[in-house]
Amino acid sequence: MKNVPLAIDVVEAKSSRIDSVDFDNLVFGNVFADHMMECDYVDGQWKNPVIKPYGPIQLDPSAKVFHYGQAIFEGMKAFKDDNDKVWLFRPMANIDRFNVSSKRLAIPEFPEDLFLEGLETLLNLDRDWVKKGFGNSLYIRPFVIATEKGVSASPSKTYKFMIICSPAKAYYSGEVRVFFADKFSRAADGGVGYAKAAGNYGAQFYPTNLAKEEGFQQIVWTDANSHEYLEEAGTMNIFFRVGDKLITAPTSDRILDGVTRKSVLTLAEENGIKAEVRRIKVSEIVEAAEKGELKEIFGSGTAATINPVRGFGNKGKKYELPQLEDSYASFFKNKLMEIQYNKAEDKFGWRYLVKKN
Ligand SMILES: Cc1ncc(COP(=O)(O)O)c(C=O)c1O
Repeated sequence: MKNVPLAIDVVEAKSSRIDSVDFDNLVFGNVFADHMMECDYVDGQWKNPVIKPYGPIQLDPSAKVFHYGQAIFEGMKAFKDDNDKVWLFRPMANIDRFNVSSKRLAIPEFPEDLFLEGLETLLNLDRDWVKKGFGNSLYIRPFVIATEKGVSASPSKTYKFMIICSPAKAYYSGEVRVFFADKFSRAADGGVGYAKAAGNYGAQFYPTNLAKEEGFQQIVWTDANSHEYLEEAGTMNIFFRVGDKLITAPTSDRILDGVTRKSVLTLAEENGIKAEVRRIKVSEIVEAAEKGELKEIFGSGTAATINPVRGFGNKGKKYELPQLEDSYASFFKNKLMEIQYNKAEDKFGWRYLVKKN
């Protein structure tokens, strides 16, 4: 969207909380950096952007976000290299997707320049929260919520945009086994599956809890009509390796256009790994597993980068995957991390240097 130059007000925290944080034992998303960004949409305009100390916000109990779920978010990361430079990974892809999500939820788009400038200013203030070392990062959570008072079911006239940041360690989610959805659905044709709408996530908690009781940490969602085609996991796109071929589902109005997914596809092409983007039948993957041809399943997403899957469950049967020395999962994870931490050439222009101000 067209950008309006707006000066960002900066109110620095009187003291930092950083010394009270145990960076060796971080739980993902539980600790937040000293500052946050806030900007309000009032009278048809985004106004008064401010970066200020992290803290609670006040909302009217009738604010529309609480009643109609008009809320979207993004997830991205900042990385620090050995020379203390701070980098983002393909930030424009997240900013674009933020506005794609907003549009679908009838939320006014946020000016891209202001987003990036605010984020850079915030990261500069909280540079010390981005720790060096492979696997360490500062997870960035931009979001928008509908703030207008009143419980009439109509789009809010006011919104709050915010960015909060949380230091993260190398994400190890333990051994992941996935369940292929055969009853519940995540997204429908014409719905909001392609948007990072808050409600997409809340709606997954119940079926995921049921899957957990059966020993599966995540669900691989299938198409809502037939449950015959594999689509994506809760917070990851999903790849299958059959023989030496990689297969992933095409993005659609049901599937999030993951930044990691498209980076994996580009790296596969660059490295001569055959990748097919097409619909994937559950039966095809089950058959490949039974014939011993299914070598890997892995998820791709900002939180874990690449998350190998140890096994899957389908229609009451459990399947285990072989553990490979030379897995594609670790190949892509290393390739991506080397780019993110400025340890490898950035052929595709994915790294974005956070300029010191
Ligand atoms: C539903 C869903 N699919 C896929 C992804 C992976 O996307 P990305 O690689 O951009 O983090 C995410 C996480 O953002 C997600 O929430």
